[in-house]
Amino acid sequence: MRIDIITVLPELLRSPFEASILKRAIDAKLVEIHFHNLRDYTSDNYKSIDDTQFGGGAGMVMMVEPIDKCISALKAERDYDEVIYMTPDGSTLNQGIANQLSLKENIIVLCGHYKGVDQRVRDHLITREISIGDFVLSGGELAAAVLCDAVIRLIPGVLGNETSALTDSFQDNLLAPPIYTKPRDYKGWKVPELLFSGNLPKIETWREEQAYLRTKERRPDLLGDDEH
Ligand code: ADE
Repeated sequence: MRIDIITVLPELLRSPFEASILKRAIDAKLVEIHFHNLRDYTSDNYKSIDDTQFGGGAGMVMMVEPIDKCISALKAERDYDEVIYMTPDGSTLNQGIANQLSLKENIIVLCGHYKGVDQRVRDHLITREISIGDFVLSGGELAAAVLCDAVIRLIPGVLGNETSALTDSFQDNLLAPPIYTKPRDYKGWKVPELLFSGNLPKIETWREEQAYLRTKERRPDLLGDDEH
């Protein structure tokens, strides 16, 4: 998979890809990440990427031309499955969207800034708009890093144990059950006895029940019916 990220702040985006699972995925060539500085696609001496709003109103708007030039240059090199714009008014990211995107070959991610981009970018160049939640960040970079992390860890081979992404919270629309490790007893805080029984079917049933109970309590909306 290849992800091209268009940003005015590439320096803000580098570090998440330089550690841990994302770094390993890049080193193992399971994913390529390319940053593109929007200012390299400007045509004026000031390298302007934004301007005031037509019709008046506070805040600057990112101009269509540098974004179009950058996306066109990328599209001239290869086909893209999606051109994603990170924006608080996009569809809220969830595990289903992350799963879908993890199957794609080439993706462009555009990070917004200021008030956002000229609507013509959204109308003509973007195929999908994604939000990471109902709050407003200073720019799309941190949101893009969140999206990339959620997607890249699902690419086969990225996680050491292939099953571990399958047992994540949300994969079956259920939250993950409680987990424990050594010691068995810490200050009298005990691990459930059943987990030492060696009875794997029983342990599996317990985990499924716990996942269901936790979901019912914390996120009944995931069960599709708040009355569960
Ligand atoms: N840009 C600013 N806020 C955002 C959000 N919540 N999700 C995605 N992109 C954003």
